[in-house]
Amino acid sequence: MTFALALGVGTRNQKGLWLEVYYPKPMLSPEPSLLAAAQKILNYQGGNQALPVSQTQMRELSDQLTGDQAALAAQLARSERPLVITVLETDDKPASTPEVYLKLQLLSHRLVKPHQVALDGMFALLINTAWTSDGAIDAEELAQRQLEARIQGRHLEVFAVDKFPKMANYVVPNGVRIGDAARVRLGAYLGEGTTVMHEGFVNFNAGTEGTSMVEGRISAGVMVGEGSDLGGGCSTMGTLSGGGNIRISVGKKSLIGANAGIGIPLGDRCTVEAGLYVTAGTKVVLLDEQDQPIKTVKARELAGMNELLFRRNSLNGQVECKINKTAIELNEALHANQ
Ligand SMILES: CC(C)(COP(=O)(O)OP(=O)(O)OC[C@H]1O[C@@H](n2cnc3c(N)ncnc32)[C@H](O)[C@@H]1OP(=O)(O)O)[C@@H](O)C(=O)NCCC(=O)NCCS
Repeated sequence: MTFALALGVGTRNQKGLWLEVYYPKPMLSPEPSLLAAAQKILNYQGGNQALPVSQTQMRELSDQLTGDQAALAAQLARSERPLVITVLETDDKPASTPEVYLKLQLLSHRLVKPHQVALDGMFALLINTAWTSDGAIDAEELAQRQLEARIQGRHLEVFAVDKFPKMANYVVPNGVRIGDAARVRLGAYLGEGTTVMHEGFVNFNAGTEGTSMVEGRISAGVMVGEGSDLGGGCSTMGTLSGGGNIRISVGKKSLIGANAGIGIPLGDRCTVEAGLYVTAGTKVVLLDEQDQPIKTVKARELAGMNELLFRRNSLNGQVECKINKTAIELNEALHANQ
């Protein structure tokens, strides 16, 4: 069965290379009728391919299709911008920019979860792009476009220069709030009931399972469980640069305090004291119920365990871990997402 398919409209640079593609309704396991139409009209012969589509071909496709996809094809057929149909027969590592964009949008549409799709080698397929009030512009072509805009008496606003656009310009999944849309990159997976405050950040291939208050940073690859909170300015360690190779995650109903951080996966109902960064190699003194030391371990030995409270003893500076008696109760009013 074919893995995914999507009809899209995108932007190419002056050399004709794709900068980005917007897929309004990406699909997993597309209907055979869609593939048959792609075979007939675009001569699709199988494999993973981004097939350029003319307006006429898009109109023909719309005649062959039914329902949502027919309506979408009819709308896209009116576009003067470059059209494309991307077919992923298999979830192999991406081979083109439209394929990367399809996978990022499958994630942000919640059709797949982080780590469920192959993204190997994606950076090399993404061109450094200026995201502007005139849309996507190859960073190398920006100066010329700025000058042209000025000559026309216009001002070209540059929002970001990055390989990734902001998620909200492609999809806003239901039941989320985002204080500053620039802080959530395309490819983020935001579960229903998630609030990302202005200080929060969510990278691609990372996100939240469900109700969460995110005021800290969710690095690439990190997944946060249902009902967990990331306090203001806290950090979850990514694996992209020098962060080691342990995949970081947060279980259910856990709290990473303000300005704290984790370099190990946390289990359910854990708390990390505000300001404490627990790295994998941090030596941690385990305390019993009477706060007496039992033994010293490295934090990585506690990875993924439930009901732990990490704190830095304010009298002697050592990092301590004890059973978390007061697993967090989410502030219901604060978390009411709607
Ligand atoms: C770690 C934390 C959870 C502890 O809170 P708590 O469980 O309510 O504990 P308390 O503050 O009531 O302290 C219990 C006892 O431990 C002591 N204690 C607390 N933190 C300590 C520390 N770092 N070092 C030494 N003793 C400490 C307290 O003094 C108190 O002692 P007592 O029994 O003699 O009175 C809390 O300090 C914290 O950091 N919460 C994070 C909140 C946050 O950042 N939210 C996000 C906002 S954006």
